[in-house]
Amino acid sequence: MASSAAPSLPHIRLLATGGTIAGAQTTGGRGYQAGKFSIDALVAAVPQLATLARLDVEQVAAIGSQDMSEAVWLKLAARTQAALDTPDIAGAVITHGTDTMEETAFFLNLVVRAEKPVVLVGAMRPATAISADGPMNLYNAIAVAGRPAARGRGVLVVANDEIHFAREIAKTDTTQVGTFNSGHRGLAGLVNAGRLHLYAPPVRRHTAQSEFSLDGVAALPRVDIVYAHAGMGRELIDATVRAGARGLVIAGVGDGNLGAVPLAAAAEAAKAGVAVVRSSRTGGGVVERNIEVDDDKFGFIAADELNPQKARVLLMLGLTRTREVRALQEMFFAY
Ligand code: SIN
Repeated sequence: MASSAAPSLPHIRLLATGGTIAGAQTTGGRGYQAGKFSIDALVAAVPQLATLARLDVEQVAAIGSQDMSEAVWLKLAARTQAALDTPDIAGAVITHGTDTMEETAFFLNLVVRAEKPVVLVGAMRPATAISADGPMNLYNAIAVAGRPAARGRGVLVVANDEIHFAREIAKTDTTQVGTFNSGHRGLAGLVNAGRLHLYAPPVRRHTAQSEFSLDGVAALPRVDIVYAHAGMGRELIDATVRAGARGLVIAGVGDGNLGAVPLAAAAEAAKAGVAVVRSSRTGGGVVERNIEVDDDKFGFIAADELNPQKARVLLMLGLTRTREVRALQEMFFAY
């Protein structure tokens, strides 16, 4: 569908993938199904969008983001790049479930080549809920994507009147509307009923300066995440290696740590050629090299500031370019 807004307004491509923003309550009770409404229906529910942009829409997927996969990422990246390569298009907005939004946003942040704004948007309440948050989030996302000031800041996420960088954002609450948090480095800005307040640009490499390319990439290498805990054994680490993982991200305790038994399993995995990244399950802070774990001796990679799910995204893309541990470590310092 193409909108009938004035031709002087920015032209925005709206790519839909589903999520709670397109969710419908089925019984009138607490339950709902994500991804039920088409993107045309979501746009029709917010006629004020016509004052912000000329929209055209594309339904790329219609899933809850718990079903987001590498195959959909590859398709979404291609469709986003095609939109941004269209001269008349000023930016792209992607509707997405909040559960894995941070992973998709970071993936696109690393593979999309453009200065034009790319903004992901979701909602915590389904479209049929009392006080649904989707319509204002969508309005704000389109306002951000249409503004030249939002260019060159990498992929952004808009929700709850906040603008987040793809690298920093994490979902931190199961149900609250203010679920997204950008930790130590903080917000990209605020957006109040379409009015932007942008803060400092991102510090790490992204989009136009990224080295990653999906040209010729039909599938991404398998990378698994193993969650560490008190009393942990080695079985899960051994299982990922047996299953053919080329990379392993440890959601380590504290500073990316592992007990002696799983540490020995991880060291064996690294020796066998699996790229092992130490991240942290704490939700904040930096995992540095060689603090309590001798990364040099074991051949490990420290995740720096990335949480386990984002470390997995970077490691998958890193492994499309190299298996060399030092080169992979440099990527974790650069992105
Ligand atoms: C999903 O991620 O698709 C479900 C949850 C949400 O969008 O808030």
